[in-house]
Amino acid sequence: MLQGKVAIVTGGTRGIGYATVETFLKNGATVALFGSRQETVDKALAKLKTENADWPVVGLCPDLTDYAAVEAAINQVRTQFGRVDILVNNAGISAREPLYQYDPEAFKNIMSLNVDAVFNGCRAVAPIMKEQGEGVILNTSSMVSLYGQTAGVGYPASKFAVNGLTKSLARELGRDGIRVNAVAPGVTRTDMVAALPEDMLKRVVAPIPLGRVGEPQEVANVFLFLASDLASYVTGAVISVDGATMV
Ligand SMILES: NC(=O)c1ccc[n+]([C@@H]2O[C@H](COP(=O)([O-])OP(=O)(O)OC[C@H]3O[C@@H](n4cnc5c(N)ncnc54)[C@H](O)[C@@H]3O)[C@@H](O)[C@H]2O)c1
Repeated sequence: MLQGKVAIVTGGTRGIGYATVETFLKNGATVALFGSRQETVDKALAKLKTENADWPVVGLCPDLTDYAAVEAAINQVRTQFGRVDILVNNAGISAREPLYQYDPEAFKNIMSLNVDAVFNGCRAVAPIMKEQGEGVILNTSSMVSLYGQTAGVGYPASKFAVNGLTKSLARELGRDGIRVNAVAPGVTRTDMVAALPEDMLKRVVAPIPLGRVGEPQEVANVFLFLASDLASYVTGAVISVDGATMV
């Protein structure tokens, strides 16, 4: 589905990002994964190479909150592979602190990675995609971007902003052949969720009509569809992948 395409996936070293990298590679893309540290990038690359030594995948670790670093890394990928067709802005952190204890610095930090980094990626890649006459930007939002959550306001606030970037840039960049969409996962079985004790997991699953948490692969499948030409008329959408979780 992505034969000949060049993709960048931020936060590609584990969880949803790793599943997306793997899925894109299986579907013929060349992939550059961005991680936060060289060590975790190398580990992810080694794991992918054990699956298939021939997969065209490289890894970089720019500071996503620093525009110049993001621009340099994206330009490096373009120089190495000749183009950038897909950017998945996936790296993100969450928060659970009640407002009464919320450290203002922590609020700035979450906005910096979850929002500024998404802007940085879009800002740096859009001119390349415009020149190509086509491109796809995908953002990882969250189900909390629709309703908020009962603590840790920085996280939903940041994901509301991700939806805003998605919807607005879809309108701004459509005429340049660039589609912009977001996926809003519900609770997904990444390391954090896998480590939850049984009773906590039961509470998490209770409001999910499908009766289970989502798998990273199920989110990656939607990224695959949105990145592919099958989604050629889909832009400005925030697609829920949450088993119809009720709040
Ligand atoms: N897991 C869930 O239940 C869930 C639900 C909704 C949305 N999401 C969103 O999905 C995305 C991926 O989350 P995940 O659950 O796979 O998380 P994860 O913690 O397993 O992975 C997060 C990724 O982001 C990267 N990252 C973290 N801080 C970084 C930094 N400062 N600079 C660069 N990269 C950094 C990590 O290296 C890692 O690859 C996030 O945007 C998250 O908000 C996750």
